[in-house]
Amino acid sequence: MGFITSKGLFEKALKEGYAVGAFNVNNMEIVQGITEAVKEKNAPLILQVSAGARKYAKHAYLVHLIQAAMEDTILDIVLHLDHGEDFEICKACIDGGFTSVMIDGSQHPLQENIRLTKQVVDYAHPKGVVVEAELGRLKGVEDNISVSEKEAILTDPDEAVELVKETGCDSLAIAIGTSHGAYKFSGEPKLYFDRLKEIEDKLPGFPLVLHGASSVLPELVRICNEHGGKLPGTRGVPEDAITKAAGMNVCKVNIDTDLRLAMTAMIREEFDKNPENFDPRKYLAPAREAIKNVVSHKLDILGCANKA
Ligand code: G3H
Ligand code: 13P
Ligand code: ZN
Repeated sequence: MGFITSKGLFEKALKEGYAVGAFNVNNMEIVQGITEAVKEKNAPLILQVSAGARKYAKHAYLVHLIQAAMEDTILDIVLHLDHGEDFEICKACIDGGFTSVMIDGSQHPLQENIRLTKQVVDYAHPKGVVVEAELGRLKGVEDNISVSEKEAILTDPDEAVELVKETGCDSLAIAIGTSHGAYKFSGEPKLYFDRLKEIEDKLPGFPLVLHGASSVLPELVRICNEHGGKLPGTRGVPEDAITKAAGMNVCKVNIDTDLRLAMTAMIREEFDKNPENFDPRKYLAPAREAIKNVVSHKLDILGCANKA
C-alpha cells in the first residue's frame, strides 16, 4: 500500500466543485486526529509536511506515522512537501517517498521562479511525483495600500500562464489576499475573487491552491485566552469565502493554524482545569479529539465529505 498523488483528486474536485483539505502534520496526535475525521467523513486527503515539521519530528518518523495511519484507517493519502524552498529539499522528499512536492519560488523574480520550478518538475515527473508551484505574495492586502503595492502582492494572471506553460507544474498556489498565521487582516477580511476569476479564465481547468486558509476560529481563540493564552486581535478567512473559492478552481486548501489553535486550546483548558494531571495522554487525547472535530468541520466547509 503506497501513497497516491493528487492528480485524480484534483480532476474530480474541479469537475464537482469542491476542494481537498491539505492539513499540516507535526506529530502523532495531529496525524490521528485528522485521519480519524477524514475516515468518518469519507473524504479525500492530503497530509503535508513543512521543512519545520521535518526538522522537529524527522522525515522518517513522519513518513512512518502517516503510513501507520494509512494502515489503520485504510485511507488513500497524498504525502506532500509544503513550501519547499530549494531543489535539495524537494529531491530529498521525492527520494524519501513523498508523492507530491511544493517548490515555493514565489520570493524570486519570475524567470528564476520558472527555472527553479522546472528543475523540480524535471526531477519529479519521471518518478511519478506531482509538483505545486507558487506565484504571488502570501500577505494580507489592506484597503489602504496603493495599486502598485497591491499588484506586487496578488498573482499576475499572465505571469501565472507563463509559469505553468514553461514549467509543466501540476498545480499553482496563488495570492488573492490570504496570508499565513492567526493575524491575516488588520481590517475587514477581503479576498480578491475577481483576481481568482481572471486566473482561472486564463488557465481553464488547471488546479489552483489556496494557502493561508485557516479561519482562526473565534471559539478556539476564546478558549486559549480564557485559560492563560495571549492571542489578542486574531483574524482569519471567513468560512463562506473558503466555500466560495472551493466552488471555483481552487481544489487544494491549506490549513495549519486552525489545527494549532485546536490543540493548544484543549491543552490549556486541561492544564487549567486539572493542574494535578501530569499524564501526557490525559491532555493529548482531548487535544487529538479537538483536531478531529475541527477537521470534520473543515471537510463540510470545503464540500469534500463523501467525495473519497
Ligand atoms: O505555511 C506554513 C505552515 O503553517 C507550516 O508552518 O513552517 O511553522 O511548520 P511551519
Ligand atoms: P494557515 O496559517 O492559514 O493555516 O495556512 C497554512 C498554510 O498555508 C500551509 O502551507
Ligand atoms: Zn502555505
